[in-house]
Amino acid sequence: MDTPFSTLIRVASHEQHTEAETSTFMSDLLGGRLGVDAYTRYTEQLWFVYRALEGAAEALKDDPVAGPFVKPELFRTAELERDLAHLRGPGWRDGLTALPSTAAYAARVEECARTWPAGYVAHHYTRYLGDLSGGQIIRDKAERTWGFARKGDGVRFYVFEQISNPAAFKRAYRELLDRVNADDLEKQRIVDECKRAFDFNGAVFRELGGEFSLSA
Ligand code: HEM
Repeated sequence: MDTPFSTLIRVASHEQHTEAETSTFMSDLLGGRLGVDAYTRYTEQLWFVYRALEGAAEALKDDPVAGPFVKPELFRTAELERDLAHLRGPGWRDGLTALPSTAAYAARVEECARTWPAGYVAHHYTRYLGDLSGGQIIRDKAERTWGFARKGDGVRFYVFEQISNPAAFKRAYRELLDRVNADDLEKQRIVDECKRAFDFNGAVFRELGGEFSLSA
C-alpha cells in the first residue's frame, strides 16, 4: 500500500467529518444558539465515551497493536469530571445518563477493547486526534459563549496540559498510525471501524439535536 495509513484514514473519514462539523447540533452549539444546558449534556455524553476508551487502556497497554497508542497524556476522564463538577455541581454523577446512542457507542468501544484491539485504535484515533484539532475551536467558542475561564473549569476536556506541542504530537501520532501492526486487510477494517465511530458520533449529535431543538 503506497498511501500512508494516516492519510488513508483521514481521507476516508473526511466526508463524515464535514457532516459532523455541520450537524445541526454542532452548528447550533458553536453558533451560540444553545444554552449551557446543551453544552453540559454533550459533555456528559463524552464522559461515557472516554470512560469506555480509558477504562480499557490499562488492559491494552502491552497489546502489540493498540498498546503503542495508549498514552496517559491523552487521558480525558479526570478533566471531564472536573468540567462536570463545574457544570452540574459536586453531585455531578447523580442522575447522569447516557443517551441510547451514547450507550451504543460506549458499548462498541468496550467490545473492540475486549475482542479486537485494532478496532480500538480506530476509536482512539477518531476521538483523540479530533480533540487535539477541532476541539480547540470548540473550546474557544465555549469560553466565549458561556463565559468559562480560559482553559479553565468547564473546558478542561479540551486542554491537554501534558502536550506542549499538539502539532508535533499529531505528527508523531500519524507516524504511529503509519506503523500500525496490521496488514492491508486489517488496515481496511480499521478504516471501516473509524467510519463507524463517526457514525456513532453522528447519532449522538442527532439525539442531542432532538433534545435541544431550536424549533421545538
Ligand atoms: C464542529 C466540530 C468540529 C470542528 C470545528 C472540527 C475541526 C477540525 C479541524 C480544523 C481539523 C484539522 C486539524 C489538522 O489538520 O490538523 C480536524 C481534524 C480531525 N477531526 Fe474534527 N472537528 C469537529 C468535529 C469532529 C468530530 C465530531 C470528530 C469525531 C468524533 C472529529 C474528528 C477529527 C479527527 C479524527 C481529525 C484528525 C484528522 C487527521 O488529521 O487524521 N472532529 N477537526
